[in-house]
Amino acid sequence: MAASNEEVQGSYGRCLKQKGFISRFYELLMERDPRIPKMFEGTNWTVQNKALRRGISIALTYAGGSAIVERSMKEMATVHSRKGRAPVDPKFYVHWRESLLQAVSEFDPRFNGELRQAWDEALTKTTDLFTEAY
Ligand code: HEM
Repeated sequence: MAASNEEVQGSYGRCLKQKGFISRFYELLMERDPRIPKMFEGTNWTVQNKALRRGISIALTYAGGSAIVERSMKEMATVHSRKGRAPVDPKFYVHWRESLLQAVSEFDPRFNGELRQAWDEALTKTTDLFTEAY
């Protein structure tokens, strides 16, 4: 059985407590396709790391079924849509999910199969929404 949304939020908290979680995620993401680093050529990493840290938190809240983050989710989806500031073809989302799962497995000392399944489901809810909005 998959872990609960609360358990995923707890897992994310343990990842963030250690230095370098978000940077490790981006390192893994860049390695997955040569077109990905090109998308980040002009990126300010201090700003971006913070934006993603918050973005993942919003995504997990959304996956837990909370409506209060719907607007923030739509805004993030718009940024990555065809006409957005940072368009992302939906075919890249598998890389986003896999890199994040890998980073979590490295940083959460209590990571296990149930958590992996619940993380995967939560991240898929997010990338499904982004794909619909593309
Ligand atoms: C393969 C998947 C993805 C790629 C390649 C990607 C790429 C990018 C790029 C290039 C930027 C702009 C950076 C800049 O301003 O220079 C960005 C911004 C951002 N991305 Fe993604 N992204 C991906 C998936 C996601 C997902 C699924 C989320 C959801 C949590 C997300 C959240 C954000 C946020 C919050 C920002 C900052 C937006 C802003 O500045 O207003 N990204 N992304």
